[in-house]
Amino acid sequence: MKAPFNPLLSAAATLLAAAALVSTMAAQPPQALPAAPPPQPATFPAPTNLKILPANMTGQQVNDLMRQWQAALGARCSSCHAKDYGQSDPDGRPLLNFASDSKPMKAVARLMAQMTNDINTNYIARIDSSADPVTCGTCHRGRLGPDPFIPPTVAPPPAPQDPPPPTPNPAAN
Ligand code: HEC
Ligand code: HEC
Repeated sequence: MKAPFNPLLSAAATLLAAAALVSTMAAQPPQALPAAPPPQPATFPAPTNLKILPANMTGQQVNDLMRQWQAALGARCSSCHAKDYGQSDPDGRPLLNFASDSKPMKAVARLMAQMTNDINTNYIARIDSSADPVTCGTCHRGRLGPDPFIPPTVAPPPAPQDPPPPTPNPAAN
């Protein structure tokens, strides 16, 4: 026969179930906690001091290009951009003043970008079969100062073989 419904027993069962749930939750690894909301996409202020790049480039486009230069040269943003001692990050380190022209390396980079553009538009584009444009990385290969190219030493031609021993001529005997 089925036991009559007992509200007390039923409440105890609910409590037990709840306790079991809490202990399962406690056993979960921390990753199981609800994920933090995704970070807001970074916004980049519109550039104010472009002298050689197209003036209508957005902050995002300039930033993407800068990351390419940085990788192609194996450089840091601070290789070309001066520190702004008036402004610091939460750790107290000075921020970079990207619009400032006080680092000479930035002027070299401007020349290099113009040179690269010139190579592509006036030379590479005139080659019918040209496919890959020249980039900073074509020459720099991850180094700020491109290494001199040392051609691999060419292996000397194989020494001339000794002439094969004369085959005995039975007719001569
Ligand atoms: C090899 C040198 C070099 C490196 C490395 C470099 N930059 Fe630049 N950056 C420049 C030059 C040159 C300009 C100016 C371009 C122009 O005059 O049109 C510039 C311009 C900028 C600007 C626009 C500033 C403005 O308001 O006009 C920003 C922002 C910027 N860089 C960010 C960065 C960041 C971020 C990095 C690192 C990821 C970086 N740069 C790495 C050379 C460099
Ligand atoms: C055709 C090859 C070539 C290309 C393409 C090229 N560079 Fe260079 N770059 C050089 C050479 C060679 C030097 C070394 C010049 C020297 O110091 O005598 C140099 C030097 C530099 C320097 C100075 C490094 C230092 O230590 O003083 C910077 C900055 C630079 N390049 C940035 C760039 C950027 C940015 C690009 C792409 C927009 C670029 N280069 C594309 C060949 C190239």
